[in-house]
Amino acid sequence: MGIVSALRCPRCGNDATSPAVFQCGACHCILEIRVEVGHLTRSDLQAMAQSSDHTIWRWFDFFPIERRTSIVSLGEGSTPLIHATRLGERLKMARLYLKNDTVLPTGSLKDRSNTVGISKAKELGFTTATVMSTGNAAASVAAYSAAAGMESVVMVPMGTAPSKIIQARAYGATVVVVDGDFDNEVAQLYKTAIEEFGWYDCLSSNPYRDEGKKSYAYEMVDQLDGEVPDWVIHPTAGGTGIYAMWKGFHEFRSLGWIQKLPRLVASQSEAAAPITYAFTKGLSDIEPMVARATIAESIQVGNPVSLGWRALAALRESKGTAVALSDEEILEAQRLTATLEGIFAEPAAATSVAAVKRLRVSGVIGREELVVCNLTGHGLKQPESIRFDDKEFTPIAPTLKALRERLQRVETGE
Ligand SMILES: Cc1ncc(COP(=O)(O)O)c(C=O)c1O
Ligand SMILES: [Zn+2]
Repeated sequence: MGIVSALRCPRCGNDATSPAVFQCGACHCILEIRVEVGHLTRSDLQAMAQSSDHTIWRWFDFFPIERRTSIVSLGEGSTPLIHATRLGERLKMARLYLKNDTVLPTGSLKDRSNTVGISKAKELGFTTATVMSTGNAAASVAAYSAAAGMESVVMVPMGTAPSKIIQARAYGATVVVVDGDFDNEVAQLYKTAIEEFGWYDCLSSNPYRDEGKKSYAYEMVDQLDGEVPDWVIHPTAGGTGIYAMWKGFHEFRSLGWIQKLPRLVASQSEAAAPITYAFTKGLSDIEPMVARATIAESIQVGNPVSLGWRALAALRESKGTAVALSDEEILEAQRLTATLEGIFAEPAAATSVAAVKRLRVSGVIGREELVVCNLTGHGLKQPESIRFDDKEFTPIAPTLKALRERLQRVETGE
């Protein structure tokens, strides 16, 4: 069982007064969970690695859930780690790997978090989960709530395109459109509603939920037969992935199961890059910025208030880096990943591939280094990011002659 030995403020050391308290009473910082893993032996690890359970729950003892009966799972985890030989050849890299999280149950990495978050909600006896989101988190919270037999309420700002929230609606969430701006009015109402109605908070302000992405570290080490990547590149918004992976690799090292740690890279859109900015300027904390429009919609976050500073620290401790990409670089990476490797990632997810290209060209990453790029969301989440000429879909006459002409036009690029 996952034994929580502490739920403590990482800034002032205060302990939580109850397992359902997520923030420090004094400084409002998100509390940090410490899961007790020191008792696990090598044979325990072998048993986990060889388990017939291929979800992240084969690493049960690493998650803050007391009873297996609390687990709410949709089969998340063990996503393919693909040796990207064709893309690698293009980028002059011998050991480039893609962690294909587009195949997770609701199509994004959020499932790693919400399987843990909603399992904890069940264990703590909550009946309604909530999140404010315009995309991947909404769908994931809605799906796991449905599977848990819980209600879910999703808050979105006015003007959100229906296509962004339709998936959450399909799983039965109550979608509430709020007249206001995401970072201000919606955020304020969200906070007040949680206090008023006692709903379960599924944002990165929930420390249980944030433990879920530690599974990236466990799976990578397992899939690489014990080897640790030289670099792991993660599309970054709130900073949960970077923070949690770092924690996961540390846990494995503290148990003596791995000897080294990877260098971590945060890939962001240059239109919403507060973590990259703070990293590059050598700041000790994140300065919130107003995010501009970007093709990488899912990571368009200007104020990673909960875990941004922890991610920044992890990047520095790992001797990693952070990269801010243009929309052109992101779309090129999306195209290369789809056409060379057969994986259709949403633009936000393709930032990891755009970053590896940038870092390879500038010589920061060497030809022989083992690099993993996390592909965190499916391309079908945002299909309109694929640009094409309307002429491409103009019908042709059903004759071989017309077909030949059409193929000719493709060849000549007309
Ligand atoms: C597709 C995708 N990739 C990456 C992220 C990054 O999240 P985080 O930095 O919290 O790991 C998100 C969520 O915001 C996302 O939707
Ligand atoms: Zn505190």
